[in-house]
Amino acid sequence: MHTNPPRHHPVEIAPDTFVIQATQGEGVAPMAVHLNSMVIRGREPIVVDTGAATHRDRYLEDLFSLVDPEDVRWVFLSHDDADHYGNLDAVMAACPHATLVTSWFQWERMENMPTIPPFRLRWIDDGGTFEANGRTYAAIRPPVYDSPTTRGLYDTGTGVYWASDCWATPVARGTANVDELDAADWRDGFTMFQLMNSPWLSVVDDARYQRSVDRVADLHIRAIASAHGPAITGGNVAVAMDMLRGLAGMDVPEGPGQPMLDEIVNGLLADAAADGR
Ligand SMILES: [Fe+2]
Ligand SMILES: [Fe+2]
Repeated sequence: MHTNPPRHHPVEIAPDTFVIQATQGEGVAPMAVHLNSMVIRGREPIVVDTGAATHRDRYLEDLFSLVDPEDVRWVFLSHDDADHYGNLDAVMAACPHATLVTSWFQWERMENMPTIPPFRLRWIDDGGTFEANGRTYAAIRPPVYDSPTTRGLYDTGTGVYWASDCWATPVARGTANVDELDAADWRDGFTMFQLMNSPWLSVVDDARYQRSVDRVADLHIRAIASAHGPAITGGNVAVAMDMLRGLAGMDVPEGPGQPMLDEIVNGLLADAAADGR
C-alpha cells in the first residue's frame, strides 16, 4: 500500500527548535499517526531522531532547508525503532561533522551500527548530559516508552523536551499543536496510544510510576514535542502531565482488528475504481 501522504511543513515550537512533521495513514485509515522528528539550530545544530525511511525525500528536504549538513554537529537518537532511525545512515553520510549521541544498548541492539564508525559515536545513557550551543542537553527517559533504550532530550536553554514515543496521540489529519484537538478526543486518543505502546502500564506500581512522572514534571518543561502526536505547549503541558499520571493500572484496550483493515482495503479499492485503474 503506497499512497502519497499529505505534506506537512516543519513547525517552530521554540526559538530555533523545529518539529519536522510527517503522518502515516492520513486520508487512508480512520486515524492517522504522526511520525515526527526535531531539529535544533544554533552554532552546533542538533538533529533529534531521523524519521521513517518511507518519508526520506521529504524528511531530508525539510531538515536541510533548516540546517546545512556541513554544520550539523550532533545527531541524537532516542531509541532503536525504525520510525526514529529510519534516515540515520542518510543523515550521518550527509553530515560529515556530526557525532551520534547513542548508548551502548542502542549500539548493541542495532548490530553495532555497522555503517557508523565508533569514533563518530558518543554513548550517553538515561540521566547523562552533553554540552552544545552554550547550554546543557539532558538525556532523560520519558515515563512511557516502548524500547528499553529510550531517552528523551531536554534542552535547558529553551525548555523543550523531545519525548520520543511518549504523549503519542492519534489524529484525524496532520495537527501541529494539541490545542487544535478537542480536549476529550485528545485524552481518549492519548490514553489508548500510551496503553497500546506500553502495555506494562497495566502492571506498574503506581507510587514508583508517579516518581518517574515527577522526574519529568520537575524539569519545568515549556514545550513537549512527541514523535507521534501534536506539540504540547503553554498550559497544556500541565494537562499532559496530569493525563500521564492517570495511566498506571489501567487495562490495555484491544487494538484495531480485522474490521479496520477491511475498511482500509475497501477504501483503497474504491479509490482505485474511481480512478479507473
Ligand atoms: Fe518506539
Ligand atoms: Fe516511535
